[in-house]
Amino acid sequence: MSKDKLWGGRFTQPTDKFVEEFTASIDFDKRLYHQDIRGSIAHARMLGKQGIIPLEDVEQIVHGLRAILEQIEAGEFDFSIALEDIHMNIEARLSAAIGEAGKRLHTGRSRNDQVALDIRLYLRDEIIAITTYLDLLIDALLVQAEDNLDTLMPGFTHLQTAQPILFAHHLMAYVEMFKRDKARLEDCLKRVNVLPLGAGALAGTTFPIDREYVAEQLDFPAITRNSLDSVSDRDFALEFLADASILMMHLSRISEELIIWSTSAFQFIELSDGFCTGSSIMPQKKNPDVPELVRGKTGRVYGNLIALLTVMKSLPLAYNKDMQEDKEPLFDTIDTVKGSLKIFADMIREMRVNTESMSRAAGQGFSTATDVADYLVRKGLPFRDAHEAVGKAVAYCVENQMDIIDLSLAEWQLFSGKIDTDIFECITVEASVNARNVPGGTARERVWSEIQNVRAGN
Ligand code: ARG
Repeated sequence: MSKDKLWGGRFTQPTDKFVEEFTASIDFDKRLYHQDIRGSIAHARMLGKQGIIPLEDVEQIVHGLRAILEQIEAGEFDFSIALEDIHMNIEARLSAAIGEAGKRLHTGRSRNDQVALDIRLYLRDEIIAITTYLDLLIDALLVQAEDNLDTLMPGFTHLQTAQPILFAHHLMAYVEMFKRDKARLEDCLKRVNVLPLGAGALAGTTFPIDREYVAEQLDFPAITRNSLDSVSDRDFALEFLADASILMMHLSRISEELIIWSTSAFQFIELSDGFCTGSSIMPQKKNPDVPELVRGKTGRVYGNLIALLTVMKSLPLAYNKDMQEDKEPLFDTIDTVKGSLKIFADMIREMRVNTESMSRAAGQGFSTATDVADYLVRKGLPFRDAHEAVGKAVAYCVENQMDIIDLSLAEWQLFSGKIDTDIFECITVEASVNARNVPGGTARERVWSEIQNVRAGN
């Protein structure tokens, strides 16, 4: 019946049962119970300090809210769909438990600023948790990079052999990506970490509230500056979803590589059994399910970003019920990103690297052809001419089913008279790698010092 509703005053008919279910958010926003209670305690204390409600009431409210927190955590709280959302579930229970004082809690506040507060508090903690998981993954990559400072591999462009690189260098590329993800999230946190409470429904409140005091209690370094924006802004959530999408894109790329590298054609790595499954029909199969699933889960995270962007598109100011749809994409993204990062860190740590097959592949596919061209440039040939000469040498090798290192000096000289015996030192895979001794290059000492840099927090 309408009379059971906290907002039932102006209604004479009960809410349709299905409408009640359709509009309720309690099934998913109950996740916010902790933040809701924390925010309410800070709000009540402020109301008391400002003399807006009696201090005895504040004591009862705080006490009552703490008891509710315990009930929820003990699994003894009965969430009610009729009470729509977490805010009204808690408030109704509080009033049932402590009476009059409980009914004073919502003074000078609206669910519109309350829900914005709860989401910001929740997301703030989750962003910090995600950056911690990112640190674990970065550390796992660094450990593998340290262990593979002498592991040669073919570097690819177009997934065709391009130039030899160190496997450590390849891993450090992902370290760069995940460090950017972390920096992006830390930047996003600045916009999340702003107190919206005090905006009321949309216009502020008639009570002499102290927003700074609430901000202080809840560790917000700043308060929002426009009440309409405070209740209608979900940019901070969109930003998080965009950052999470980029992060998942990175995970999908490394997933794809792990999947390719563990094929029998490549045999560059072996994932430990704990991260793979077998096939119910093919006895030989060991499938890389974890990276496949992370690659697949990238889709839902992108979807969540588009979902919320679309919810927010064209919404008039200020709060609209549409915005209740912000939570599920947000929660799903948080769960997906945390799960993916956690499992990935362990998987990278346990990954076995097949250094022989990697370094064998590093020398195939004429991977040091660019080194020959560079050699000719050092002997005075313009780069374009050098490129042409080496291209012909490669065609010769293809025709005669040879590799570049099999060419004799006489054969080399068919393509350029400038080639001498010193060519043989510069076309080994190791020489090719170590010759790329520029900042950001794959030379061993560069990669080593990059690992030290990152370890030192740079
Ligand atoms: N459950 C609502 C949401 O998640 C809380 C805010 C409702 N405000 C309102 N005026 N109906 O957005």
